[in-house]
Amino acid sequence: MKTINIILLGYGRVGKAFVRLIQEKQDFCLSRFNLHIRLGVVLNSRGGLILVPDKEGMGTLSDLAQGLKLEELPYWRPAMDFGKARECQDLDVLVDCTPSNIQDGEPALGYTHQALDRGWHVVTANKGPLVVDISGIRKKAEKNRVSLGMSGATAAALPTLDVALHSLSGAEIYKIEGILNGTTNYILTRMSKGMEYSVALREAQDKGIAEPNPSQDVEGWDTAAKILIITNVIFGTAYTLKDIQVEGITHIPSELREEARAAGNALKLFGRFVQNGKLPLLETKLSLIDPSHPLFGVDGTQKGIAFFTDTMDSVTVTGGKSDPRGAAAALLKDIINIYRG
Ligand SMILES: NC(=O)c1ccc[n+]([C@@H]2O[C@H](COP(=O)([O-])OP(=O)(O)OC[C@H]3O[C@@H](n4cnc5c(N)ncnc54)[C@H](OP(=O)(O)O)[C@@H]3O)[C@@H](O)[C@H]2O)c1
Repeated sequence: MKTINIILLGYGRVGKAFVRLIQEKQDFCLSRFNLHIRLGVVLNSRGGLILVPDKEGMGTLSDLAQGLKLEELPYWRPAMDFGKARECQDLDVLVDCTPSNIQDGEPALGYTHQALDRGWHVVTANKGPLVVDISGIRKKAEKNRVSLGMSGATAAALPTLDVALHSLSGAEIYKIEGILNGTTNYILTRMSKGMEYSVALREAQDKGIAEPNPSQDVEGWDTAAKILIITNVIFGTAYTLKDIQVEGITHIPSELREEARAAGNALKLFGRFVQNGKLPLLETKLSLIDPSHPLFGVDGTQKGIAFFTDTMDSVTVTGGKSDPRGAAAALLKDIINIYRG
């Protein structure tokens, strides 16, 4: 049996779902993969705790999985931060569930580099560091012979990089189109039934699909970040947000909606990469697609990605749970796959 000690950074929606999931899946991971996935340290922005099983006064996974706030636990340490946690012995994997800051990647970018310097694997739901410094992070991981798990940041439960990097080996991908954001796809689906944008957005917020501040999603930046990371990882490039044209769904002309409805077509927000000679096209664009498109039927909070290749034709994946539990499952998948080799 291999024990994997995790340091979890960020204890919000995804962090909590991850804690519940590893408790729920403990026996399964042990029996199926011979892996004992153990939470060693949990941090939020105000402090954290160290979990040592079977020691009086220290936390246990089941205490946390009951959903208590970190601060409510008796072994809460207000002065605990990443710097102090870094000195803990025997940690193996940083799981990053802190907010995605796609402007400068911080503070998670610094933590990611420190973790890699320590020889820890990094598994992340956070797009920020990957958008800002994918080349530096990958170089350091390679140099230190550790792995990066990026599924949580690249459409989470929908496999994107796994498919491109493994299932399509040997094929050249010349185009990628993805519905990579469940919130905007939900709003567009409701609008296709005649609902106005503001009503559809409010409904998505009431259902907990859209965030109270949905700008990253509806203005296209979440999709842009994901297609950027996916492109850079697949092709080993270092494009930045400056290289991508970004369009959102906040100002859709009513004539365009009418045109789509009349022709039986669908409006989708695509993250798109096209290998276009020396100047590849990268964009987040509202796209009118007809029923023959492989992503035509991807509705509601569903996501999907289509890879267009020279030898395998188009390969499309759709589905995947679009919520914190789906994101947590993607993190767990990456951890398991790192240790399966
Ligand atoms: N929600 C989803 O369904 C989903 C799906 C895929 C990917 N993601 C990505 O997953 C990440 C987490 O999302 P979320 O929805 O869980 O966000 P969230 O609910 O806002 O949680 C973020 C957590 O990060 C903590 N945090 C902030 N700064 C920190 C720091 N310097 N050190 C340690 N902890 C810090 C926050 O702590 P405080 O409470 O102390 O501020 C909070 O616990 C984001 O990058 C998001 O883009 C989310």
